[in-house]
Amino acid sequence: MESFDFGIVGLGVMGRNLLLNMADHHFAVAGLDLDPAKASSLEQEAAHGHQVKGTTSPEEFVGLLKKPRAIMLLVPAGPPVDAAIQTLLPYLAEGDIVIDGGNTYFPDTDRRVKALAEQHIHFFGMGISGGEKGARFGPSMMPGGNKEAYERLRPIFESIAAKVDGVPCVAYLGNGSAGNYVKMVHNGIEYAIMQLIAETYDLLKRGFSFNDDQIQQTFEDWNRGELQSFLIEITAAVLKRNDDDTGQRLINLISDRARSKGTGKWTSQNAMDLQVPIPAIDAAVIMRDLSTYKEERVQAAQRLPWQADTKASLANPHSEVQEKLKNAFYFAMITIYAQGMAQLHVASTVYNYGLNLEEVAKIWRGGCIIRARCLEDFRQAYTREASLPNLLLDEEIAHTLLDRQAHIRTVVKDAVDLGIPIPVFMASLAYFDAYRSAVLPTNLIQAQRDYFGAHLYERTDKDGIFHTHWD
Ligand code: 6PG
Repeated sequence: MESFDFGIVGLGVMGRNLLLNMADHHFAVAGLDLDPAKASSLEQEAAHGHQVKGTTSPEEFVGLLKKPRAIMLLVPAGPPVDAAIQTLLPYLAEGDIVIDGGNTYFPDTDRRVKALAEQHIHFFGMGISGGEKGARFGPSMMPGGNKEAYERLRPIFESIAAKVDGVPCVAYLGNGSAGNYVKMVHNGIEYAIMQLIAETYDLLKRGFSFNDDQIQQTFEDWNRGELQSFLIEITAAVLKRNDDDTGQRLINLISDRARSKGTGKWTSQNAMDLQVPIPAIDAAVIMRDLSTYKEERVQAAQRLPWQADTKASLANPHSEVQEKLKNAFYFAMITIYAQGMAQLHVASTVYNYGLNLEEVAKIWRGGCIIRARCLEDFRQAYTREASLPNLLLDEEIAHTLLDRQAHIRTVVKDAVDLGIPIPVFMASLAYFDAYRSAVLPTNLIQAQRDYFGAHLYERTDKDGIFHTHWD
């Protein structure tokens, strides 16, 4: 009794994989699930000699854990989290820690932190990335909550997290809902990079007439260089796969209606609230939505044709196409991370999270879905200047972008000529061009606002606020 180091509520794939991961690292772990089959099979799955116990009784479960207790909830976000808290609450004591490991909308975490603090229980919101495999063999984890209470969790989390050069992909991120917020933005970046890859695939396939093997090989080659990342790696694997039933490439049989669970949308919604521009992430959310209008798109394809002049694009040797696309991709990828990180920079102040963006870049280098070689460059940028408001202002990152900007401009022109939609590439370039514009035409917007609504404007030649009687 009271000898177990950690408990997990919810023994679905994520919950059981995390528990087995902890058991592999010699922690004694207990699992609670109302389904007796899930509770009992956990013990059978654990390797010989590992201390693992499954139960369906909340009272027994809580009684097994060392004090202060550390309990993670891995149940669907929303009401199930509140229900799980209510189930445990009668058995918990002062100083115990409850961690929500799901993709919870961050204001819900703030509400729960407050409610449980009244009972002197620490509540943590923790983003976990890496899917089923990550949970089993090394995820990236983004915890937020009480700093002192984190010390109870640190040894366990650091043991089970993915490692990059021996450094664990987990770190205390900040107060309240900081962990959920960082995971939300992680997912926004995830959406944008996935869409960027899909656009690249479309350009290669419909635009430059690469065949399936050539497209697959392109992604495989890119994964060996500066684009090396989990999402490029799995793209190469996905494109290789044949369907068991028909023997055809499976990708060509998958419907193009993309689904989502909402984290990307939350990133965009909140960015609008904070007035942080993240157009590439917005474009990715929009494209998933647009993809679901299948019937309308099929009609529009007939009604709105465009005869692309493909002579010029097809005249390019494959190696040249690959080179310019690779550079355009890298350019856009950097601006996507820059937009997400800029949102974190602002949110950290607004919500008083106290985020350290070097730590965020560090724990995203491994284990998570957006892990990529370039994250080490971003980490170094924040080492040079911890309070950098935007990665585009870092000298080294700027060089990388400047070296590639001609290529993204060419790729965008190609796509316009070909009539292929690449909104994330376009939004990335437009963001770059707007961000590097010392003067924007928004003076005209100010004048128009003053014309029709007397909304006033500021001048460049003298201080104060002005209004003009325009007519
Ligand atoms: C991760 C992922 C994961 C998320 C999926 C699905 O980091 O492991 O972000 O948490 O659930 O990516 O998200 P959508 O269903 O919204 O695409």
